[in-house]
Amino acid sequence: MEKLSKAVLPVAGLGTRFLPASKSIPKEMVTVVDKPAIQYVVDEAIAAGIREIVLVNHASKPAIENYFDVNYELESTLEKKGKTALLQALRDIVPDDVRVISVRQGRPLGLGHAVMCAREVIGDQPFAVMLPDVLVDNYGQDETDLARMITRYQETGVSQIMVEAVPQDRVDQYGVVALGDEFPEAGHSKPMVGIVEKPKPEEAPSNLSVVGRYVLPARIFELLKNTAPGAGNEIQLTDAIAELMNEQSIEAYQMRGSTYDCGSKAGYLEATLQYGIRHPELGSGFRNAMRNLLSDQ
Ligand code: G1P
Repeated sequence: MEKLSKAVLPVAGLGTRFLPASKSIPKEMVTVVDKPAIQYVVDEAIAAGIREIVLVNHASKPAIENYFDVNYELESTLEKKGKTALLQALRDIVPDDVRVISVRQGRPLGLGHAVMCAREVIGDQPFAVMLPDVLVDNYGQDETDLARMITRYQETGVSQIMVEAVPQDRVDQYGVVALGDEFPEAGHSKPMVGIVEKPKPEEAPSNLSVVGRYVLPARIFELLKNTAPGAGNEIQLTDAIAELMNEQSIEAYQMRGSTYDCGSKAGYLEATLQYGIRHPELGSGFRNAMRNLLSDQ
């Protein structure tokens, strides 16, 4: 099988949970320590072998595209001033062998519709979907969860849906999967028997929520074309995955790492603390500041 090398990042969402911060800055561009949240997701993609990143964007959020574009004026100014470290930091945003492509989702018809907007760029190859609100943290682990999902897909040809357990009273915020007799251990996959978008807690088939990392075949585009609006009156990726499950087996991959929901204020703060205390230059000062702060409480 050809190496899976493409990922779709739907970034057209309005970010209402993050207002007022996201009023004139896309929520994906809000800084976590010293880089925009979306850079963490792109770094995660690259670490998993992705070389083509397809942003599905909206006209109101050009800052995302500009961030991944070359800023020639800025680069030549830094070059003239001999600021080589800063210049390198800019060039590291997207390594030379990675392409960032942007397509538009003109109408807010849901996640499934957003994924479908990337169809022409993805073609008939399998691909990853990465929801940029969620940061997946595999700090200290030899391999990222996404890399493991891609390896599993390449070995088996079976679609992979990353899941994590959430408290039962929060299942109505997520896609939720139903498993067969076997429950996957962390870092492993087991066959799914169902998936449902935002179920009522009393009707949920489990408390395993869909995290926002998927490895899917191009067949999903055909199914999305015929997917009627579902939960929230939006075309749901979850519903197309349920359809795909009627044709082929799909596995739930239980993540090893942890997640921060950077589309929410609380998740964003937690991510800032975690990434702050381990930052190579800022971490030790930040840890001291935190200690002082806490000892004053
Ligand atoms: C989307 C998906 C849902 C998934 C969630 C993860 O929902 O539709 O299945 O569990 O992302 O964050 P949204 O958060 O866009 O409502």
